[in-house]
Amino acid sequence: AVQGVMMKAIAVAPDSWIPGGVPDPLIVHQHGHVGRSLSRIDGPLKVRGAAPFAAEFPMDGMVYAAVLFSTIARGRIATIDAQAAEAAEGVALVMTYKNAPRMKPMPGFGSNAKAAGGASLPVMQDPEIHWNGQPIAVVLAETQEQADHATSLIDVTYEVAPSVTSFAEAKGVGVEPGLFMGSPLKIEIGDAEAALAAAPHRIDAVYETPYHTHNPIELHAATVAWQGDTLRIHDASQAVAHMAWSMGHMFGIGEDQVHVTSPFVGGGFGSKTLWQHQVLAAAAAKLVGRPVRIMLSREGVYRVVGGRSLTEQRVAIGAGADGVFAAIVHTGISATTRSNAFPEPFILPTMSVYGAGSFKLEVDIAYVDMLANTFMRAPGEAVGTFALECAIDELAHQIGMDPIEIRHRNEPDKDPVKGLPHSQLDIAKAYAQGAEAFGWNKRKAVPGSRREGEWLIGMGVATGTYPYHRMPGGAARMTLTRDGHATIEIAAHEMGMGTATAHTQVTADRLGLGLDQVTFRYGDSLMPGVVLAGGSQQTASIGASIIAAHALLVTELLQLAGNDSPLAGLKPDEVGGRDGGLCKLDEPERFESYASILSRAQRNEISVLGEAAKPLELQHWSMHSHGAMFCEVKVSTVTGETRVSRFLGSFDCGRILNPKTAMSQFRGGIIMGLGLALTEETLLDTRSGRIMNPSLSDYHVPVHMDVPEIDVIWTDIPDPHTPMGARGIGEIGITGVGAAVANAVFNATGKRIRSLPITLDKLL
Ligand code: MOS
Repeated sequence: AVQGVMMKAIAVAPDSWIPGGVPDPLIVHQHGHVGRSLSRIDGPLKVRGAAPFAAEFPMDGMVYAAVLFSTIARGRIATIDAQAAEAAEGVALVMTYKNAPRMKPMPGFGSNAKAAGGASLPVMQDPEIHWNGQPIAVVLAETQEQADHATSLIDVTYEVAPSVTSFAEAKGVGVEPGLFMGSPLKIEIGDAEAALAAAPHRIDAVYETPYHTHNPIELHAATVAWQGDTLRIHDASQAVAHMAWSMGHMFGIGEDQVHVTSPFVGGGFGSKTLWQHQVLAAAAAKLVGRPVRIMLSREGVYRVVGGRSLTEQRVAIGAGADGVFAAIVHTGISATTRSNAFPEPFILPTMSVYGAGSFKLEVDIAYVDMLANTFMRAPGEAVGTFALECAIDELAHQIGMDPIEIRHRNEPDKDPVKGLPHSQLDIAKAYAQGAEAFGWNKRKAVPGSRREGEWLIGMGVATGTYPYHRMPGGAARMTLTRDGHATIEIAAHEMGMGTATAHTQVTADRLGLGLDQVTFRYGDSLMPGVVLAGGSQQTASIGASIIAAHALLVTELLQLAGNDSPLAGLKPDEVGGRDGGLCKLDEPERFESYASILSRAQRNEISVLGEAAKPLELQHWSMHSHGAMFCEVKVSTVTGETRVSRFLGSFDCGRILNPKTAMSQFRGGIIMGLGLALTEETLLDTRSGRIMNPSLSDYHVPVHMDVPEIDVIWTDIPDPHTPMGARGIGEIGITGVGAAVANAVFNATGKRIRSLPITLDKLL
């Protein structure tokens, strides 16, 4: 019994993952809530339709907003006549640049630690047009239909200015060195071009990836009201604290006067940040003096919310006959805008995944007059791994080496750019397990040698990778009541990935409580913490905050317990949680329940505010998740159509906190990767810069028929230098998938497609 109890006791270890510190005991804890498959606690609410999303909060006197978009890429509004719209039935207000309240420009990402804007332009403050699709009027009406109709009654004329609306034209104008969040995207180690020229084997090819648009099921929406001096926003957000600061900044009020909540978010992928629609709703609400609901149409999302930019990437690899890389060149150009320099940073994966004798990595930018692009699931890695991992496949084929073997031979023993040791890296194990489970040994090395009827069948592999991040600013409040119930509050987000569930598990484990004795509260800018659900780092950030808050709570509980407690004299790091109380770790019968401690101290509750330790681990270790992606395709010799028949992802991402929600994250990422590989492409009319396929009928995300059985396995080896031993799992799923599919297509057909998406015309 004592053995069992000891297994359940969890130590307090606030600094446990900091270099030199003791590993967090949760890492090796096998018998608690962490590591168990648990269904999402928000699941039943969603199934019943009882989970309110941003556009589902009714407000008294609320009006509905519709947006009119510009039809030119650059220039200015010459005339705008809204009289007919204003006179239309049900219309409460038409807002244009002429009557919109004065606001500061949107604070773009990076301009402030809490800036949440996808661009840095003024919002409806002047007649200037910066992209085709820019909002030029907002109509408020009693019903959505009345508002939508009234936008059609607005007459606009433009003075058109010259614009650059094609990538080819933009490259002709000239390219500049790219910056990613202020940092240069350029690395040179040794003389890579010379090493390339001297290498016995070499691949030198150009790969292209198109624009992509985020298509979360929940459209971007907000319900907004001015309540006295307070701006109340029900938002669909992956950054509530950033949103409050940014809106306050634009409207000239304090961030504490902006209250943003976002309890449920129907997907984000990097897009549920600050775009013009929330600002327009708040501005219009101010003018009309009534609450406003804005929900962008699907077309509206394509016009207003930026996505992934296109890339043109050169990858050149030189190697010896042994497959060892002498040089990796990964350079190229990404399109971006002047309103938010956000080139797709496609060299990020190449900075860490392989060793090589020399490197030349660089992203340049070319400016297009278009909607500002932004983060989209694994920005950089999603398309960078396509180019890199295809090139490695091409090289392996040239040398006549197994594609997995060539990757093993180039696994780095330390970070190739930073020189740091890896915190944990077991990609070889992930490959071995994946190859076994997928039946890689059945692959035929000669392309085009497996055929069933009209279908050519092939297998491909590629490495996926995504860095571990943890952002500072993670404060959390932990409150424990006398009835033994704990509540965590943190301004974090649940976009459907299982955040609330995983952190209920983490908190329950640390405190020694049941899952029903823990409430995880989040999605509210009034709560502590400045947490971004992005960069696959929210789980680690929240975990660090919970660990810090828990350490404080235990310290205070021991003080309250005092000298009459069985715990008397114990230090915080000597005790752990079990069965609704604290016990000595190596002497679990020395125990007092939380209820007993609090009632003896005549306290109804105890509440602490913990601040996560700084992410110092990132200065000491190279920290990356990896995945081995296996794909089997069938390509029709009649139509050129590619069907993914099997897919397996074998991941090495540290400890998995909840296998069920993790599985869903990996699968979701892989499905998005199948879209990237085969179907997704945002098409700009190169003459006008207008997005021509702004709908789910014209922009093809994978549907059920496009998605085969997807197997997911993982190493589950804890990372000793992260909170809870876990690294991120949100974005890695999409990485490597494009290349795994393209490499399988090559193995099936002998045709090397270097331009995404791999549509059937490219295979005929
Ligand atoms: Mo992700 S692109 O960091 O939401």
